[in-house]
Amino acid sequence: MIIAVDGPAASGKGTLARKLAQYLGLAYLDTGAIYRTIALTVIEANGDPHDERTSLEAAKAYHRQKYPDHALRTEKVSKASSIVAAHPKVRAEVIGIQRKVAMTPPGAVLDGRDIGTVVCPEADMKFFVTASPEERARRRFKELKARGEFADHASILREIVLRDERDRTRPVAPLRPAADAYLLDTTSLDIEATFQAARRLVDGHLPGAASHKGGP
Ligand code: CDP
Repeated sequence: MIIAVDGPAASGKGTLARKLAQYLGLAYLDTGAIYRTIALTVIEANGDPHDERTSLEAAKAYHRQKYPDHALRTEKVSKASSIVAAHPKVRAEVIGIQRKVAMTPPGAVLDGRDIGTVVCPEADMKFFVTASPEERARRRFKELKARGEFADHASILREIVLRDERDRTRPVAPLRPAADAYLLDTTSLDIEATFQAARRLVDGHLPGAASHKGGP
């Protein structure tokens, strides 16, 4: 079983995808973390994320858990990740890693930008999670503050809007909802309300799925 959860920056898709994976007994893959790892590899080598060849070398050297989560989630890495993710050769390299996880029984919930459109167009169910840019900036601000990082709401909002724009307008695998995705606007929903809304859709769309106890 494959569930695709796509959406713009800080929309809550990662939290929802993790909860859905637990509910359905599936593996969870944060595909953004792959692009973030590639970006940080380039940054650490003093490379330029705009350079496709350098980014491709970093993608080829990718391995999971190379960096701790907090190192991947800085604003500098966020920006660089969307620059490396625009290179077609980098995306071609990364798609194999993602499909391997998706195809491993009993299946997985994957969150990203192009899961429902490009990586797993055959997914059993697709979500496109959104929230207003202001609300998304507020959430990212809280997240960074909680980790003790310097955070400025206005610059976070600016970076989120710019990153979404870059992700939406790139020629390869742009951020957009699949035609058959369920749209979930979480602007006024908290984590639990978002999960309950998605759970109702899952129960309606995939009856009996939650009793499937494969486990990751
Ligand atoms: O957590 P947040 O939504 O801020 O970002 P993320 O999901 O970790 O993704 C970081 C960046 O990786 C995005 O801005 C995209 O440019 C890129 N990405 C992508 O192109 N395709 C994916 N399937 C996942 C992430």
